[in-house]
Amino acid sequence: SDAIAFFGERQAGIVTPAQDRLHFVAFDVITKDRAALVGMLESWTAAAARMTAGLDAGTIGAVGGIPESPPDDTGEALGLPPSGLTLTIGFGASLFAKFGLGEKKPAALADLPKFPGDAIDPAISGGDICVQACAHDPQVAVHAVRNLARIGMGVVSVRWSQLGFGRTSSTSTTQATPRNLFGFKDGTANLKAEEPALLDEHLWVRPGDGPDWMTGGSYLVTRKIRMIVETWDRTSLLEQETIVGRSKGEGAPLSGTQEFDEPDFTAVDGEGEPKIAKVSHVRLAHPTENNGARLLRRGYNFVDGSDGLGRLNAGLFFIAFQRDPRRQFVPIQTNLARHDVMNEYLRHVSSGLFACPPGLRAADDFWGRSLF
Ligand code: HEM
Repeated sequence: SDAIAFFGERQAGIVTPAQDRLHFVAFDVITKDRAALVGMLESWTAAAARMTAGLDAGTIGAVGGIPESPPDDTGEALGLPPSGLTLTIGFGASLFAKFGLGEKKPAALADLPKFPGDAIDPAISGGDICVQACAHDPQVAVHAVRNLARIGMGVVSVRWSQLGFGRTSSTSTTQATPRNLFGFKDGTANLKAEEPALLDEHLWVRPGDGPDWMTGGSYLVTRKIRMIVETWDRTSLLEQETIVGRSKGEGAPLSGTQEFDEPDFTAVDGEGEPKIAKVSHVRLAHPTENNGARLLRRGYNFVDGSDGLGRLNAGLFFIAFQRDPRRQFVPIQTNLARHDVMNEYLRHVSSGLFACPPGLRAADDFWGRSLF
């Protein structure tokens, strides 16, 4: 079957192969009642374990109950396979404040700074709890988020949510590199499941990094990045490749010929100019420019209709997992926000940072138990 194990050492949906579809949701907790929140997290966990196995959210099911009651599953995934569904939970800094969990709050969960050029809309940013639902079938991902929202009624409310299509990364060497809406391969130089030593160094929180409950987990950064595709599409191929620092067809660094050639930032052309421009995206994002920092990128394309000005409301819903955002996302994004020539075509409109604990190993464990 195409089910991905829900229980395990790690949460699924991080280093498991990136699926094609996303429904990402951020919730705000609307009760002060700690027991109600814990009860909901237990119910969520049971529903998540069932739905990722391709079952109804509840044990009675969409059509198995008495006609006088609302069903414990909404029904739109009836007959559909598990579709590789993963549900990954994360906790935002605001949750710790609301429930007096200050002592458990990791220092790594410090608010992201405002970066140059940011146009962040708070209404579609942050949140107390996030769930990243990924699947091969959008109906399955939406079904999962909808049922969690239904179960959480009265305890949480949906703050914002985002649909994505077309993964913009590969998280395994067995996956072909997909393309983003600029038409370039995205995910070539990503952290991959087959590099466990690199994952230990850059992805998973280690003992001693912070509070114990996060050991084996990872920090999730989301950035909704509007891409002004109409302007990009009037830019020459040569200019596009210069901005990225890679060729559009093969995805090779401009210093090489094959996709997986290591970029050589010292290579120069006949006129003595660097083959990979100093202000290109791959150079500025590369570990050598950022004190060795790396990310596991797992983002998705989005098109939220059009903007009323004759343009697509399109872009990249950027998702990155890491061991410590203060040493990874923040310095890399600072570098990009200051110097990247791609910025002319980009606008960051939403931002999120969540602490994703390790996986649940036993069927009687539940999301957030180590926090409450
Ligand atoms: C690499 C596109 C935003 C970090 C790349 C590549 C492309 C790309 C085409 C080369 C292929 C690859 O190695 O994956 C974009 C687009 C963005 C965007 C279109 C915005 C809409 C970001 C952001 C960050 C980031 C916000 C992090 C702060 C990276 C990193 C690499 C990379 C770390 C790999 C660099 C290397 O090691 O060679 N990106 N990117 N990107 N990007 Fe982005």
